[in-house]
Amino acid sequence: MTIPVTPDSTAADTDPRPLTMFGPDFPFAYDDYVTHRSGLGAVPTYRHGTEVAVIGGGLSGMVTAYELMKLGLKPIVYEADQIGGRMRSHPFDGHPDVVAEMGAMRFPPSSTTLFHYLDAMGLRTEAFPNPLADSTPSTVIDLKGESYYAQHLDDLPPVFREVSDAWQRTLEDHAELIPLQQAIRDRDTAELKRIWNDLVVRLDDQTFYGFLASSKHFASFRHREVFGQVGFGTGGWDTDFPNSILEILRVVITAADDHHRGIVGGSQQLPLRLWTDTPAGMAHWPDGTSVRALNGGSTRPRVTEVRRTAPHQVTVTDSSGEIRTYPAAVFTAQSWMLLNNIHCDDDLFPIDHWTAIERTHYMGSTKVFALVDRPFWKDKDPVTGRDLVSMTLTDRMSRGTYLLDHGDDKPGLICLSYTWSDDSLKLLPLDATERMNLMIKSLEEIYPGVDFRSHIISTPVTLSWETERDFMGAFKANLPGHYRYQERLFSHFIQDELDPRHRGIFLAGDDISWTAGWAEGAVQTALNAVWGVMHHLGGAAPADNPGPGDRYAELGPIRLCD
Ligand code: ARG
Repeated sequence: MTIPVTPDSTAADTDPRPLTMFGPDFPFAYDDYVTHRSGLGAVPTYRHGTEVAVIGGGLSGMVTAYELMKLGLKPIVYEADQIGGRMRSHPFDGHPDVVAEMGAMRFPPSSTTLFHYLDAMGLRTEAFPNPLADSTPSTVIDLKGESYYAQHLDDLPPVFREVSDAWQRTLEDHAELIPLQQAIRDRDTAELKRIWNDLVVRLDDQTFYGFLASSKHFASFRHREVFGQVGFGTGGWDTDFPNSILEILRVVITAADDHHRGIVGGSQQLPLRLWTDTPAGMAHWPDGTSVRALNGGSTRPRVTEVRRTAPHQVTVTDSSGEIRTYPAAVFTAQSWMLLNNIHCDDDLFPIDHWTAIERTHYMGSTKVFALVDRPFWKDKDPVTGRDLVSMTLTDRMSRGTYLLDHGDDKPGLICLSYTWSDDSLKLLPLDATERMNLMIKSLEEIYPGVDFRSHIISTPVTLSWETERDFMGAFKANLPGHYRYQERLFSHFIQDELDPRHRGIFLAGDDISWTAGWAEGAVQTALNAVWGVMHHLGGAAPADNPGPGDRYAELGPIRLCD
C-alpha cells in the first residue's frame, strides 16, 4: 500500500531537487554523465571497429551495446532467448494493444538514468496502478478474511495508519531517513557517504525483520505482521523479511518504490529500440548504423563457454559452435549462469569474486495474467456504489492483483497475482490453468458474486523466473552479511589493481548493482562496464565529464574489513 514513507505528495513535489537513485553506496551522477554534451568518452582511433562481446540482450546488455557502438566499437550481442531479458512483454493474439509484463512493469521516476534512455528512445510512460496510488481508482486490503475498501490511506481502519507511522518513525529514528534524503536532494556526496557508510557498518548483519523488531515503534507483533502483508509503496514485503535491511533502505531512501510509471506499449520496447536505434554523430560508424546492423540483423545464440586465451583475451563459444575471441567482454546475464549453464575458466575472475557470485542470493517471482473483455472492475456495485473490483492486496495466495485498464470498450488485463519468494514457490508445481483457478478462488472469496470467469477471453499467461533456465530467479536480494560480496561485484569494473590475467571481462546487470529488481541498476552497471571497456582499450572519458571509474577513488562504496 502507498504508505507515505517519503513526503512525496507535499514537500517532494514542490522541492526543485528531486529524490533520485543517486547512490547511496556510490553517489555518482549517472544521469548527468549520460546527458553531458561531451559524451561518455573515446577510444584511440586504432581501436575503432574492435569487436567487444556483450553477453545477454536484456536492458543492461542493450545499453552496453548501444554505448559501445557510439564509441566506435563493435558490440557483438549474445542472447539465449529473446532480446529484453526480464523486460519481457507478452503479446496476445488478436489484441495488439495489450501486453502482459512478465517482468519489469513499473518504474520510479527517481530512476533518472533509465528515464534518459526512455526519452531518447521516444517512449512514453503512464501512471502504474499501484495500491492507493493517486491514479488508482480504488484499493482493497484483504487480511485474515476481512476486506477494507479505500481510496486513501485514511479510509482504512486506524491500524493501517499506525503501521504507516511506525515505519516512518523507524526510518527516521534508526536509518537517518531525513538527512539521507536531504543529502540525495542536495547531491551532497560527502554528507551522503558519511551517513550511509555508518549505516552499512551498523546494519549489514541485520535482517529486514530484525530491524523492524528492534524498533520500539514496532513493538506490536500485529503491527509487524500487517506491515509485512501490505508493505510500503507497492505491496506486501514480508517475503523480504530475511533479506538485509540495507537492501530495503536503498529502495526507500531513493524513492524507488514511489510514483511508479508503466511504459506505454510495453517495457520490452526499450531494449528493442536500443537494438535498432541509429544515433547520429557516433565515433567511426556512419549515421544510420544500429547495433542490429553491426550484428548482421540478429543476435548470436546462447553462450556455452567463456575462456581466457593468451594474451589477455576472452574467447566465447556459442551454441552454434562458433568460437570468437575478443579483447574485452561484458557479461550482463544473471551471474549464476557463470556457474552452471556456461563453462568458464577459473581465470575469468579472482577467487573472491567467484565466491561473491556463488553466494549471490536471488528471489523468485511469479505472475499470472488473464485477458478480459473489458475493464468490468469499474462497474459500480449497485448497493454500495463502490468499484466492483479494486487493486487488491491480500494475505491469500494471490497477494497482489493489478487491474490494467486499456480503455472502457477495449479488452483489459488483470495481473491476477504477483508474488515473490515463498509465495512464488507455492505456485511452482501448478500449471497455468491451476494457477489461474487458485487466484480466481482467492478473488471470488474477496469479491463474492463477481463472476471473473465470464469476462476472461484468453488462456492464462504465467511465468516463474526462478524456473527459467537463463534466469534462475527474478532479482538478486542480498542476505545479511552480503555487503562485501556486493561491493566486490560492483567494483569489479575498476581493474587496474587486478592481475592482468583477470582483466578485460566486465560484469553488468541489475544483480551487479545496488538496486537489484530495478532497471536503473541495470543501466548504471552497464555504464560502469562501458567505462571499464573504454579504459581497458586505452580510452578515456572527457576531462569535463569524468566517468564512474574516474571518480571511484573519491566516491566508491565503503570497503568493510574482513
Ligand atoms: N521493482 C520490482 C517491483 O516493483 C521488484 C522489487 C522487488 N524487490 C525485492 N527485493 N523484493 O515489483
